[in-house]
Amino acid sequence: MQLSALLVAGLCAVPSVLGHGEPNTAAAIAHRDAHIKRSVQSLGSCANKLVGRGVSIERQAKTSAFVNRYLARRGLEGGFEAAPSLAKKQSTCVLSPEQEEGPFYLDGELIREDITEDEAGVDLLLDVTVIDVNTCEPLSGVMLDFWSCNSTGTYSGYAQEQTTGLTWLRGLQVSDDDGVVQVTTKFPGWYGGRAQHIHIKAHVDYTIDDETETITGGTVPHTGQIFFDQDLLTTVNAVAPYTSDTNPFTLNADDRVVTQQANSTDGYDAFVDITLTGTDVTDGLLGRLTIAIDSSATPGPA
Ligand SMILES: *[C@@H]1O[C@H](CO)[C@@H](O)[C@H](O)[C@H]1NC(C)=O
Ligand SMILES: *[C@@H]1O[C@H](CO)[C@@H](O)[C@H](O)[C@H]1NC(C)=O
Repeated sequence: MQLSALLVAGLCAVPSVLGHGEPNTAAAIAHRDAHIKRSVQSLGSCANKLVGRGVSIERQAKTSAFVNRYLARRGLEGGFEAAPSLAKKQSTCVLSPEQEEGPFYLDGELIREDITEDEAGVDLLLDVTVIDVNTCEPLSGVMLDFWSCNSTGTYSGYAQEQTTGLTWLRGLQVSDDDGVVQVTTKFPGWYGGRAQHIHIKAHVDYTIDDETETITGGTVPHTGQIFFDQDLLTTVNAVAPYTSDTNPFTLNADDRVVTQQANSTDGYDAFVDITLTGTDVTDGLLGRLTIAIDSSATPGPA
């Protein structure tokens, strides 16, 4: 990937389904697009810092340790070493402040590295660095919330799909001093009308009640969706149980969130950089990306 593609990196638009307010008025969409444009510009101007800093030996070691913890859980041989070249390709995804009613009550038990529970499918190890759009410096203490559908297109914790109370493929992690968040999930399947994607919501303002294990999030969450290369999707979707997903299929090129992103800015990359953790996709996938947040941004009109 060219340097410019790395720097004028991506964005990932707002969640679309399941009770998450997608901006659907012209004013709300304009506000989001302006936010993304500003953020991408801002990233461009602090990009030297990103390049200058490079990916430290320590950061690479964190990625390697993450993969090796996963391999150990699966009873497989460890010794995975993240290559520097791998790190240079990281996508950056800009999250947008969302108009939603807070505060949010999050279940502290969902703070966990492995969110797969007993779901079938290809393991996906998301290795994320959270940065500030204004400084390009890592942001620590950001609570990231991940969720996606299972390999046949169903979400847990969703009344309409009779999955209320189920928590698979949902989880929270807090970024460390280097802005690092690592979570192991399953590669998502698809459902009608949408390309395969994972939702991410960031809380920069929250409190944790240790006694009740309840997390109260602030009123301005930052949200986005991340996507996968179409060729990778073709490979994964040829593997069981993805082959039994009977929902209508949508290409990235036909997905409204992907195309809205293209509308928002000239250069973008909301696609996760994937590396095999073994010899085949079924051995697991390491997915790397950088998530950029403007923590002072406010949501637009509803
Ligand atoms: C996905 O979740 C639904 C709802 O729990 C379940 O019926 C389906 O079997 C799951 N898919 C797979 C491949 O396990
Ligand atoms: C941009 O948005 C307009 C209006 O929604 C749409 O017609 C057009 O196809 C979009 N362009 C791209 C590149 O997605």
